[in-house]
Amino acid sequence: MNSSNYRLAGVMGWPIAHSRSPIIQNHWLDVHGLSGAYLPLAVAPTRLEAALSGLAALGFHGCNITIPHKVEAMRWVHDVDANARRVGAINTVVVQPDGSLKGYNHDGFGYIQSLLEAQPDWRADAGPVVVLGAGGASRAVVLALADRGAKEIRLLNRSPDKALALAHEFGAPVHALPWDQRHAALADAALLVNTTSQGMHGTEPLDLDLQQLPLRALVSDAIYVPLETPLLAAARQRGNPAVNGLGMLLHQARPAFQSWFGVMPEVSAELRALVEATL
Ligand code: ATR
Repeated sequence: MNSSNYRLAGVMGWPIAHSRSPIIQNHWLDVHGLSGAYLPLAVAPTRLEAALSGLAALGFHGCNITIPHKVEAMRWVHDVDANARRVGAINTVVVQPDGSLKGYNHDGFGYIQSLLEAQPDWRADAGPVVVLGAGGASRAVVLALADRGAKEIRLLNRSPDKALALAHEFGAPVHALPWDQRHAALADAALLVNTTSQGMHGTEPLDLDLQQLPLRALVSDAIYVPLETPLLAAARQRGNPAVNGLGMLLHQARPAFQSWFGVMPEVSAELRALVEATL
């Protein structure tokens, strides 16, 4: 860590120009009257180790890690917190007082907070949860839901092996179901989560029939471009409450800011509008 009052952090990715994290983190530096900067850091995969090992010397408090570095970066930090180790990926690096690096993953925290922001009395144990997708986002979301007390998590993925492997790795309450049962799996569900890329700008909508989903079930999507995916639009139209992926992005950034700069920031309407204006 540097000895000046100028606070430095950033986000390493490749490419990085699209990242909204600088808008979020620089807004909070401003709100809290802290001088400093949060920078987009374009780091090619072959230079990830060099970039991370330079953080302390450059006086950075830490950085976020995004696509495609979230798994690989675990190899180049000195310590990985227990939750991130279970997720198998890090999205935040904190430079420790001795200059060593510790990795964290706040995606699951961000996801849970986004649900609570929409429904303050939301509970993970309200009923069965259906999670679509078994990639990196799914791992963080499934673990967070299980830790939060979900009793039954039905995991469905286009490639069945990945869902089976994840269910095996995480154990109860996670069960893998075949992809072609995704419509029927919605019966009696309290929460539906899409962590696949389907519905993202430039992709086909998710092929999912909501007919059997109870009307009180919460429907959420990890996607935030567009803000309203075809899945969320269909859910709202039939009367289900719906939560888009922007809350997950905004809330995962909070504990990172806190770990670098010592203050837990809030997601304000102003911040949300700032980021929405770029989508
Ligand atoms: P992320 O880190 O965002 O989770 P990822 O690890 O690449 O991204 O995972 C993408 C997810 O979207 C996977 O679950 C993938 O399913 P496969 O494991 O079968 O590839 C899912 N996905 C991508 N394209 C899909 C499609 N056309 N239909 C259904 N699922 C799809």
